[in-house]
Amino acid sequence: MSNDAYELARSAADALKRRLTADSFDVALVMGSGWVPAANALGAAADEIPVTELPGFAEPGVPGHAGTVRVVEVGNRRALIFLGRTHLYEGRGVRPVVHGIRTALAAGVRTIVLTNAAGGTRPEWQKVGDPVLISDHLNLTGHNPISGPTFVDMTEAYSPALRSLVKDIDPSLAEGVYAALPGPSYETPAEIRMLRMMGADLVGMSTVLETIAAREGGADVLGISLVTNIAAGLTGEPLDHQEVLAAGRAAAERMGALLGKALRAL
Ligand code: HPA
Repeated sequence: MSNDAYELARSAADALKRRLTADSFDVALVMGSGWVPAANALGAAADEIPVTELPGFAEPGVPGHAGTVRVVEVGNRRALIFLGRTHLYEGRGVRPVVHGIRTALAAGVRTIVLTNAAGGTRPEWQKVGDPVLISDHLNLTGHNPISGPTFVDMTEAYSPALRSLVKDIDPSLAEGVYAALPGPSYETPAEIRMLRMMGADLVGMSTVLETIAAREGGADVLGISLVTNIAAGLTGEPLDHQEVLAAGRAAAERMGALLGKALRAL
């Protein structure tokens, strides 16, 4: 990646601080499909602007992704919340996918919470509406946000300390490996069988590139998937984006409460 990507993030962070009343943030959150109601459950916005007012951000093209950035005070923590993200399948390349993360890093954020909607590949222990902590990932997107010889360690991609803090809050939470594919078609049943054999517990189309960008910038990452459906071929039911969003709405209160407690404990 050329330096321009980092310079654009720096100018977006400067614009963010000018445009918002706050100029420092303890944590940044990215709310995935269906997670916007959970963000609303965190409390009223102290401030909120469309992301398109910041350099380098485009309007998210996916229903369920709002395209704003909001500041919420949770306890004595100030959270910068991206409502919506850019996905690889929107066809704009990798840079816009990680621009929000690089902007948060340039604004001084060192803790990043990534949320997403995921298909569950383990119906033995997963139900629709369950949050699952991401313990590790499989980057099957065929892309990487870092270009050039920057060899970023990914051993603890998803902070063990942050995971144990969240498990102290809710000991019933499961952990799983998240596999990211480029999408936007959902997987075939054969692909889901392959992913299960590869060790994937969750499957989706986001998060992993953002995690890599966050680790490159030295931030700690907490990843949480909401199981919005059981993955293709495991139930006999077809998959539907509206079902994914509805599962998010139904789980909003639980997710909002969990995030609120996690932010207070960070
Ligand atoms: N597959 C890929 N992405 C997803 C899914 C799925 O089953 N559910 C929500 N996002």
